[in-house]
Amino acid sequence: MRDSSLVVVANRLPIDDSIAPDGACEWRRSPGGLVSALHPLLRHTPATWVGWAGSVGPVPTLPDVDGVRMRPVPLTPEDLRDSYEGFANATLWPLYHDAVEQPQHHRRWWEAYQRVNRRFAETVAEVAEPGAVVWVQDYHLHLVPALLRELRPDLRIGFFLHVPFPPPELFMQLPRRAELLRGMLGADLVGFQRAQAAHNFAQLVAKVLDLPATDRRIGIDGRVVRIGAFPVSIDTAEMAALAARPDVAARASRLRQDLGRPEHVILSVDRMDYTKGIEQRLKAYRELLVSGHVKVRDTVLVQVAVPSRERVGQYQELRERVEREVGRINGEFGRVGEPAIHYLTQPFDRAELAALYRVADVMAVTPLRDGMNLVAKEYVAARVDDTGALLLSEFAGAAAELPQAYLVNPHDLEGLKEGLLAALHAAPTDVRERMRAMRAHLHEHDIRAWVRAYLNALDRTDVLVDRLTSADASAPPAQRDRSAAAAEGRTGA
Ligand code: ADP
Ligand code: G6P
Repeated sequence: MRDSSLVVVANRLPIDDSIAPDGACEWRRSPGGLVSALHPLLRHTPATWVGWAGSVGPVPTLPDVDGVRMRPVPLTPEDLRDSYEGFANATLWPLYHDAVEQPQHHRRWWEAYQRVNRRFAETVAEVAEPGAVVWVQDYHLHLVPALLRELRPDLRIGFFLHVPFPPPELFMQLPRRAELLRGMLGADLVGFQRAQAAHNFAQLVAKVLDLPATDRRIGIDGRVVRIGAFPVSIDTAEMAALAARPDVAARASRLRQDLGRPEHVILSVDRMDYTKGIEQRLKAYRELLVSGHVKVRDTVLVQVAVPSRERVGQYQELRERVEREVGRINGEFGRVGEPAIHYLTQPFDRAELAALYRVADVMAVTPLRDGMNLVAKEYVAARVDDTGALLLSEFAGAAAELPQAYLVNPHDLEGLKEGLLAALHAAPTDVRERMRAMRAHLHEHDIRAWVRAYLNALDRTDVLVDRLTSADASAPPAQRDRSAAAAEGRTGA
């Protein structure tokens, strides 16, 4: 059956597991950048989303959600363990993030990864209309573009990597490096977050596959594959509108009151992941408490760390270490009714997140390595009154776009402490100038500019692009022109 001209393919479907008795199904907005980025675009666009429904065994029949058709791909317990938890999240994920944890290699994981990628490709081949655009997302699905091209040469295939693409010396460690590169080259366009990643990819293709490659184009089998940087973004206007809502403002005041009306609120919001630098941040914070530079009476740290990939050993160990350290710091420095760290592991809805962003005088986003980091962008978008200091790791993709943030190297403990103090005690005029510049950047470089840049580069300058970016239609013509030009200028392809 052919049923859509746009097919998004991602490891996860973006919808809630639970379906209401009337058959209605809610968007999940599960913590994670990929769903956060694509959700606002697709919710009113006829499209099909192919992905895993979040549980093993036979696939549920899912209703359409806001016009998006959900096509679940079944995974067995072995697929989940060996492909998602194993090859994707214990081999590729650590390797792609500077090997901050040791990547693990098992032949069984590679077999499962191939099997699962093939199943995804077959499902897409089933549902895509003739000549449809298929947009494959992220490191779980490196092999899908080439498998799909074999099955359906009529399709226009894009691939986008949300995470960093590592330098050749790291990627070369992968036993199946050639197959992974060839898999991606099945696409017409391979997009990355940063130009450096595209450069790494081109170098590897030339070295491993001996193909002609520049940072913009690669030749393979008589075709040209375009490559380029397309920094992903957020729905800036949506977050700003949410943060400006009176009930969200009231919730933020209430939160400050509940926190004991401290002079400074520092906030961090992460998935519980070893790439996010949570332990380094806690260590820096503890040292500032020990030295007396920070006092529990006037400063609180709110650390939101929602558990992630909980069956993967490295994630379990991280959670144990983080919780031990939070307990230790609260035991040493907290007072009755006044913990040093407010530690929360729950998922929050968007309004609660916006209220948290509004209450944070300093937002500490200090990953050891991150493809982009949308939390940093959400914080900026939520600071509608131009207040608030963003402490940002140099190793987050967002740092290239937000140089006005207080930039730090999270590996440098002293530098991290100095950065935190600088952000805490910055002059209000300095904070305001920086925030204003960052908000202006995100106003133009939002999620619609991203999708327009990517799909234009994929040679679809028609109806599809207009449909996906239609919210721009309400903007004044001058602004529309500027954002289109900005988007085109950034394609790099
Ligand atoms: P990653 O994709 O590695 O998780 P990002 O910062 O790019 O990192 O994206 C994380 C996304 O998940 C953001 O949109 C953020 O709002 C969301 N998120 C993070 N923690 C929570 C939470 N506790 N509840 C709800 N959403 C969350
Ligand atoms: C990152 C990855 C996404 C992933 C998300 C959440 O953003 O780039 O592909 O969906 O983390 O991780 P999870 O394993 O829960 O899907």
